[in-house]
Amino acid sequence: MKLAITGKGGVGKTSIAAATALILAERGHRVLAVDADPDANLASALGISYSAHATIRTIALEKKLIEERTGVGGAAGMFKLNPDVSDIADKFAYHHRGVDLVVLGAVSSGGGGCACPESALLRTLVQEMVLRRNECLVLDMEAGIEHLGRATARGVDAFIAVAEPGARSIATVRRIAQLAEQIGIEKTYVIINGIRNAEDADFLKEGLVDFEILAEIPYHESIRANDRDGRAVIDELPAEIRSCFDALVECLLAKFS
Ligand SMILES: Nc1ncnc2c1ncn2[C@@H]1O[C@H](COP(=O)(O)OP(=O)(O)O)[C@@H](O)[C@H]1O
Ligand SMILES: [Mg+2]
Repeated sequence: MKLAITGKGGVGKTSIAAATALILAERGHRVLAVDADPDANLASALGISYSAHATIRTIALEKKLIEERTGVGGAAGMFKLNPDVSDIADKFAYHHRGVDLVVLGAVSSGGGGCACPESALLRTLVQEMVLRRNECLVLDMEAGIEHLGRATARGVDAFIAVAEPGARSIATVRRIAQLAEQIGIEKTYVIINGIRNAEDADFLKEGLVDFEILAEIPYHESIRANDRDGRAVIDELPAEIRSCFDALVECLLAKFS
């Protein structure tokens, strides 16, 4: 199962990606969680302690690796567009609670679409993880889809946009679905998050009536407190909140594996 999780900033992408990865791992699945957001914080949502963050490698910052694999520095600014990346996920992953975390990091010059060696390496790596590896893959992405080329995007089983109760969040889902369509993904699924009452849920269901909503996660202080206190997103949750995340994972497994 390969999932790409996207949506407006702050809607709960990282929380949902981390919960999904951790619960899949608890159920015995091999999981590769990929932080593809330049503002990387999947590690803390997985419950990796702040003191351990410094030991997590960020691929975009691995200058030597990038130089070696892309051959940059050779003849007149030439570099390989398809470097060998098959060992990178295993070598650079941080192992935590059954999840292998790979942090991609930001490409410094001009976004994922730029023609630079970092970008070539990251793009090839995402392509390799999506198209060739067998683990469950959970990609925590920014609102855009810059990390995914056409072929890669088609290899993802589900393109999932997270929405919170707000008009801007709905607009972002629509924009993402359009961009996704342009690169050949027919369907964008939705998870609604941060629901405080029936009006919130109705607002989103009406606003996104043409989308398939996979799950509904309520707003709950315990989720926010886990972020504040550096715990994994699924730790110490009341049973009724935990069961929403379990239901989400069951839905994903039933549909996409
Ligand atoms: N259902 C929820 N209930 C309460 N707080 C939530 C919920 N979902 C996310 N949050 C909180 O909202 C903030 C943003 O969530 P995050 O997952 O980092 O969003 P994103 O990755 O989309 O920017 C975090 O502090 C997180 O703990
Ligand atoms: Mg995030």
